[in-house]
Amino acid sequence: MTDDKRVALVTGSTSGIGAAVAVRLAAAGIRVVINSARSADAGRRFAGSLPEATYIQADISDEGEARRLVAEAVAGYGRLDILVNNAGTTKVIPHSDLEAAHAGVWREILDLNVIGTWTTTVAAMPHLRESADGVVVNISSVAGSRPAGSSVPYAVSKAAIEHMTRLLANTAGPQVRVNAVAPGLIETPWTKDFTAIAEHVRENTPLRRVGTPEDVAASVHGLIESPYTTGAVLSVDGGAHLL
Ligand SMILES: NC(=O)c1ccc[n+]([C@@H]2O[C@H](COP(=O)([O-])OP(=O)(O)OC[C@H]3O[C@@H](n4cnc5c(N)ncnc54)[C@H](OP(=O)(O)O)[C@@H]3O)[C@@H](O)[C@H]2O)c1
Repeated sequence: MTDDKRVALVTGSTSGIGAAVAVRLAAAGIRVVINSARSADAGRRFAGSLPEATYIQADISDEGEARRLVAEAVAGYGRLDILVNNAGTTKVIPHSDLEAAHAGVWREILDLNVIGTWTTTVAAMPHLRESADGVVVNISSVAGSRPAGSSVPYAVSKAAIEHMTRLLANTAGPQVRVNAVAPGLIETPWTKDFTAIAEHVRENTPLRRVGTPEDVAASVHGLIESPYTTGAVLSVDGGAHLL
């Protein structure tokens, strides 16, 4: 029966990593809720291309919209089993340019990456607790643990997501598992101009290539299907964290 199928909400899933996660989960027979803040037409088309998916427009950085997103997802399918907190933003600022990383930049990045992830997770938690295997996967970055990343506020936001993952995992069990993946450089619209970093990755990382959104989706799916893993942060970076 269709109602027995699990339901996943993937935030920021009209492009890049989120879209690949949605494709992967849909192929595994999971019903998927696609989300973005702006690209609504593309989101509806994308949802229509998957076996069982719907699109909901909502800006995760707005607490009311994040809560509405979860409520509409649950109203549509009657359950929520999986939350993938993927929506994120950054500003490219050299780490040495302290003045450029002003308070407005910090607020914009933290509002989406940290507070948005928190708000969406809090709204989803009661529904995830009712699932036979509720699970949250947060999308961090190699910048969350290494002195790297597009800007200091971005890297700090990802470090916060990683510790949030551990803190939430500590109290969400036994009903809900909370894990994260930390991607390295992944080929998406976001990184299309990161040519110097891409060259560095191809020359120096153990696996000698830039990652694909499908690489990350495989690891997200793996964590979703790992029943005895919680509080983990999995590197998906071709070994970049070893440099
Ligand atoms: N690409 C990499 O190398 C890399 C590496 C490490 C970590 N990550 C992380 O992976 C995640 C996805 O990155 P990506 O490279 O796949 O980016 P992307 O291709 O630019 O996709 C970002 C997605 O998020 C949506 N989005 C943006 N702001 C949003 C908001 N306020 N509310 C809801 N949705 C929003 C976008 O749609 P709209 O703009 O239309 O709303 C789009 O669907 C981010 O958390 C990023 O930090 C990426």
